[in-house]
Amino acid sequence: MSTNEPAVLITEEAIQTRVGELARQISTDYSHVTDLLLVGVLRGCFIFLADLSRRLTIPRRIDFISLAAYGQTTTPTDAVRLLLDLRSDIVGTHILIVEDIVDTGGTLDFLLASLRPRRPASLKTCSLLRKPARLQRAVPIDYLGFDIPDVWVVGYGLDYMDTYRALPYIGIVGPDRG
Ligand code: PRP
Repeated sequence: MSTNEPAVLITEEAIQTRVGELARQISTDYSHVTDLLLVGVLRGCFIFLADLSRRLTIPRRIDFISLAAYGQTTTPTDAVRLLLDLRSDIVGTHILIVEDIVDTGGTLDFLLASLRPRRPASLKTCSLLRKPARLQRAVPIDYLGFDIPDVWVVGYGLDYMDTYRALPYIGIVGPDRG
């Protein structure tokens, strides 16, 4: 392994197995639903959403939303802003938010607060990763892939300075890589 190659935290095989399990669970839970809208949170979600959506055995549509964090000086409730909104009206629609990672929980908290007033039929969340040690808000994650330690992770859509997103596994970069 070259020194620049991130250390493996979660293998490609383990990710694919877990994505399959999540897809089966979601397909079962939404088997009565004819209009499920998967809402991907750009940009990190794009590979997870692609794999998850293809493994679902129920009707589903896909839309995207993009958010960005403000600087460190703002208060937590104002810490996120909307860059790109959904294309569609979601009144009466079953919504499943798809995230790559929940870190502090600020993004998901903001998203839930933003979408709830639009009166979806239901609003649930799915995240491939969560860092319990970093959570600042009690955000509900209905479908979770893995809890991970407080290390900088890349790959499978996640980046470090916009690199490593296309790695097929979840790796660790920086001093914690072991
Ligand atoms: C990441 C990730 C989540 C968010 C989670 O996005 O995709 O959306 O951070 O962090 P939080 O729980 O502390 O709010 P990022 O801002 O890195 O953008 P990207 O997905 O475009 O890489």
